[in-house]
Amino acid sequence: MDNPTLRVIRQRRSIRSFKDEKIKDEELKAIVEAGNYAPYAEEGSRYITVIQNKNLLHKLNSIAKEVAQTMALEGLRKLGRDENFHSLYGAPTLLIISGREQSVSPEADCAAATQNILLAAESMEIGSCWIFFDLLAFFSPQGAELRSELKIPAGFKPYTSVALGYKNSREDDMPDRNLSNVTFVR
Ligand SMILES: Cc1cc2nc3c(=O)[nH]c(=O)nc-3n(C[C@H](O)[C@H](O)[C@H](O)COP(=O)(O)O)c2cc1C
Repeated sequence: MDNPTLRVIRQRRSIRSFKDEKIKDEELKAIVEAGNYAPYAEEGSRYITVIQNKNLLHKLNSIAKEVAQTMALEGLRKLGRDENFHSLYGAPTLLIISGREQSVSPEADCAAATQNILLAAESMEIGSCWIFFDLLAFFSPQGAELRSELKIPAGFKPYTSVALGYKNSREDDMPDRNLSNVTFVR
């Protein structure tokens, strides 16, 4: 089966190398809007922050790397120590999707918006990567200050983030997905 939507879903891959050039405002707006069209368990449960300020992106990465060095997982500690690792891969735009902590299922609501964002970006051939790593910054002692600097409303917690930008390279080595993890009960 093939159609334009399925093609975009199959084509999307996480992109980890971006051009410096920012995506156009109209593209950015369409991507963010696609996030808001995602289903939710409770209206008003999510909030999207668009960051294009280089200093702030740098700050988020640096703080996240510091926090990573204190984590139990050796993989995270190693990335935190790696001078060549940038958690946003040089993307000029980062979206942070925050959920209202007291809503029914903020994490699911944020994840639904995130997937719409990734697919909308791919439909415009814009590169994207779902990023957990940079959110470690909010676990730091500066976390509360960061939230207020980013104007994340009180009661909302950052659950997901997406690095966005024009692709520098494609990652084509992912195997095609199949149905081996699916059971049809008829
Ligand atoms: C919840 C979640 C967190 C992720 N966090 C990161 C991350 O911090 N850094 C990263 O490079 N990729 C991250 N990814 C992307 C996954 O590594 C990627 O989706 C997976 O390897 C499958 O590859 P694909 O997106 O190209 O299909 C994350 C994905 C999800 C769903």
